[in-house]
Amino acid sequence: MANITASVYTSHVPAIGAAMDLGKTQEPYWAPLFAGYEASKAWLADERPDVVLLVYNDHANAFSLDLIPTFAIGCAAEFMPADEGWGPRPVPKVVGHPELAAHIAQSLILDDFDLTIANRMEVDHGLTVPLNLMCGSPAQWPFAVIPFAVNVVQYPVPSGMRCYRLGQAIRRAVASYDKPLKVQVWGTGGMSHQLQGPRAGLINREWDNAWLDRLIADPAAVATVPHIEYVREAGSEGIELVMWLIARGAMDDASGGATPRLVRRFYHVPASNTAVGHLILENQR
Ligand code: DHB
Ligand code: FE
Repeated sequence: MANITASVYTSHVPAIGAAMDLGKTQEPYWAPLFAGYEASKAWLADERPDVVLLVYNDHANAFSLDLIPTFAIGCAAEFMPADEGWGPRPVPKVVGHPELAAHIAQSLILDDFDLTIANRMEVDHGLTVPLNLMCGSPAQWPFAVIPFAVNVVQYPVPSGMRCYRLGQAIRRAVASYDKPLKVQVWGTGGMSHQLQGPRAGLINREWDNAWLDRLIADPAAVATVPHIEYVREAGSEGIELVMWLIARGAMDDASGGATPRLVRRFYHVPASNTAVGHLILENQR
């Protein structure tokens, strides 16, 4: 039976990808950020998951205002990096896991979560930057990835509670797959940032860190945080944080099991306009 062993949480910022692609990771501005992921990269290399279900948001690259799926699961064999305006990033193609993805789609839809099935989809920085932060720049990504796109760009976006319950359903879906795969669920995006309007550049360290405390210790309570609190306290793009609740809901304790172990916690400002947060939680074996 497949098993969710751990969850990983990290912000995404396109400039982090550009820093890697242009060889700037050791520059004084970027070095402290990348240093914060070194222990996490070692942990991941040691963990060797078979599949990562990577919850992220598309930024009008694969989708546009023409078509706005709330939740879309990537069921293809592979996913190419999107051209976000400067050509596709020089990163490996993402190799999927169509069989597990189709199983998860079936399980979730029969569990009353109406997913969009994506049989062809390009992936943007929302997906590739978290992979880079956790894996560096390998010739091939070291595991299969099931892209799981969430609309956090155009309202109405899903509530924190919907995301948390979806995570619980993902746990049931993975547990009912009959092959022995080691699966991780990643929640990405956030933390505080606002890219436009009079409050552009907003960062809220205090709220971010209190939110991390709460996500670790009492995720069911964090699931009740309304959209307006994210927007007010973490800025308009801080709403990306609801995606972390999908990964958190997939952990054992969210379904009555044991409390996960906190492996890693990191927080760093500045990275472009965004406060970068990062956690790793491991289910007890
Ligand atoms: C930035 C952050 C994002 O989440 C994004 O999608 C684009 C840009 C930034 O901080 O520059
Ligand atoms: Fe973003």
